[in-house]
Amino acid sequence: MCGIVGYAGSRDCSDVLVDALSKLEYRGYDSAGIAVFENGEIKVSKAQGKLEMLRKKMEAEGKPHGCVGIGHTRWATHGEPSDVNSHPHSGADVTIVHNGIIENYRELKDFLDSKGVEFVSETDTEVVAQLLNYYYDGSPLDTIIKTIRELEGSFALGIIFAAFPDRIYAVRHESPLIVGVGDGENYIASDVPAILKYTRDYYLLDHDEIAVLTKDEVRIYDEHKELVSKELMTADWDESAAEKGGYEHFMIKEIHEQPNAINMTVKPRIRDGLPNLEECGITHENIKDFKNIFVVACGTAMHAGLVGKYVIEKLARVPVTVDIASEFRYRSPIVGEGDLVIIISQSGETADSLAALRLAKSLGAKTLAIVNAKGSSIAREADMLIYTHAGPEIAVASTKAYIVQLSVMYLFAFELALAKGRITEEKCRKLTASLLGVPDIIEKILKSSLEKSQYISTKLISADSLLYIGRGLDYALSMEGSLKLKEISYIHSESYAAGELKHGTISLITDEMPVIAVVTQSDLLEKTVSNIVEVKSRGAMVIIISREDFTIDEKAYDFRIDIPAMDDMLMPMLAAVPMQLVAYYTSVLRGNDVDKPRNLAKSVTVE
Ligand code: M6R
Repeated sequence: MCGIVGYAGSRDCSDVLVDALSKLEYRGYDSAGIAVFENGEIKVSKAQGKLEMLRKKMEAEGKPHGCVGIGHTRWATHGEPSDVNSHPHSGADVTIVHNGIIENYRELKDFLDSKGVEFVSETDTEVVAQLLNYYYDGSPLDTIIKTIRELEGSFALGIIFAAFPDRIYAVRHESPLIVGVGDGENYIASDVPAILKYTRDYYLLDHDEIAVLTKDEVRIYDEHKELVSKELMTADWDESAAEKGGYEHFMIKEIHEQPNAINMTVKPRIRDGLPNLEECGITHENIKDFKNIFVVACGTAMHAGLVGKYVIEKLARVPVTVDIASEFRYRSPIVGEGDLVIIISQSGETADSLAALRLAKSLGAKTLAIVNAKGSSIAREADMLIYTHAGPEIAVASTKAYIVQLSVMYLFAFELALAKGRITEEKCRKLTASLLGVPDIIEKILKSSLEKSQYISTKLISADSLLYIGRGLDYALSMEGSLKLKEISYIHSESYAAGELKHGTISLITDEMPVIAVVTQSDLLEKTVSNIVEVKSRGAMVIIISREDFTIDEKAYDFRIDIPAMDDMLMPMLAAVPMQLVAYYTSVLRGNDVDKPRNLAKSVTVE
C-alpha cells in the first residue's frame, strides 16, 4: 500500500510528482506529500486527505520549485491519517517517502530515543528517516546499506540527502519499485502507470537493490555496493491505458474493457482449437501427475479461484482446495511434493499471497502464478506463470482483472483435463470455442443490461443490508457479487449458498432485506427457484440474474436481468457483468467515491 514517486530532471517537478501520484492514488489516499530541492534546500508540502487536498494547499500556499524531488500517497498503517503523519518524513540530513511496514520500528525507535533523537510523528517511516540520519556519514550509499541491514519488514524507499541536491536514491525490500528511464530525466515509482505519461522504459528493482538517479544517469547497486546491470523493460501499455478515456470512473471504463482483456488473455493461448500454455511453462507432461491442487489468493482473486475449483474438479477430476492466503499460511497446510499450488493475484504483490507462494515452495509443491502485473514478485518467484492481459486496473474494485482470472482458470482446467485424458480433443475444441465467444456476448450484455442495472440500483440504495444467493457456480459468483457491492456501496452484503439459507440465515429475511439471486445453472434451476420462492414469500424484494432461456414464475421475483445462454460452465463470466454494473451504479447513486472506496487500497502489501 502507499505509492511513492521520484523525479530527477530539468522540469519544475512539483507538478510532475503530483501528476505521477495521481496514477498511484489507488494504492492509498489518506494523505499526500512531496519534497523538492528548491535552491539547494529541501522544501516539503503535505496534506491530509486525497491528493486534491495537497493540490489545493499548494495553490493556496505556493508549491516548491525545483527539478529534483520525491512524493507519496499514503494508506495509513502506523498513526492516523493526519498532516503530521503524512510523508515525506525527515531527519536533519535526509528526507524520505516509504511504502511498506517496518516490523521492528519499536526497537529501532527505542534505540534512537536512547540517543536523544526526537520524533514528531507516530509513523514507522520517521524511524527510518531518523535512522538514516543517525548513520549518515557523508556517503549516501554506505548510509543506505547500513540502514537497510537494520530494517525488518517490507519497504520501498525514495530518499533525498540534503547535501546531494541533484539526485534521488531508492531502495526496495519486498515492496515494489521501478526506475523509469527518460530522455534527460529519470523517475522512481511504485507502479508503471505513474510514469507512462513520460516514458515507457523502466528497470524493475530487485530485492535490496539501490538506485541512484540524476537527470542524466541511473546507477543500480546491490547490497554489497557492486554495480548491477539490468534489463531495460518496456511497458506494453500507453498512457491512455491509465486514463479514464471519457468515462466517469475507472471502474466503469474497466468493466467495458473486459471483452478486449479476455481476447488478449485467451486468444494467443489457443492453437488449433486447443489450449497451448507452453510459453507459460505448462505442458501435459508437467501437469498430468498432480494429485491435489490448492488455489490460494485474497479477495476477488480468491473468488476467481472458487470458480476454478468447480471447473477443474468437474473437467479434470482433481480435488481442489481454495484458501484465503492469510489463512493458508498459518494453518499448517498439508501440501507437498506432487501437489500444485496456484496463486492468483492482480498486483502480484499481495503480501499474504506472496508468503503463501513461498510457503508452498518450501513444502515442495510446484507453484503456478496467475498474475496481471508484469515482473511483480509473485510472477517472478513461481515455477510456472500465466500472465493475464487486463492492462492496468486502476479502480480499487476489481472487475476486468477478475474476468481474465476466470478465463485463465478455464484455460488451465481445459489443459489439465486433456493432460489427464478426462476429455477428448473434440470436447476441448467445443469448450475453447465457447470461451472465445465470451467477449462478444459480454459486449451484448454491456448494452442490454446497463439500464436495467441502473434501475435496479435505485431500488437498492436505501437498503442497510442484502443477500446474494446461488448454488454451485452461481454461489461462487455470488461471493464476488456481494464483495463488489459492499466494498463500493458500503451496504452490508453477504453471499449464501441458496440451499443453506434455511439453516439459520433465512431468519434475517424481511421486506427490508433485498435478495439478489444468481440463476444460471440448468441442473440446479428448480432447486434455486425453490429457494428464491422461500425468500420471496417471506417478504424479500428479489432480483434475479438469470439465463434468458430459463422459465421462472414471475411471482417468484420483483426484477429480472436476463443474460444470454451458453455452456453452464462458462456462465459466471457472463453473469459477473450485471453484478458489477449493479454494484457500480449503487455506489454512484449513493454519492460514493467509486474508484477509491474508504479505508481500502488496491495493492495490499501488508499482512
Ligand atoms: O492484487 P491481488 O489480486 O492479489 O489483490 C487481492 C485483493 O486485495 C483484491 O482482489 C481485492 O479483493 C479487490 N480489489 C476487491 O475488488
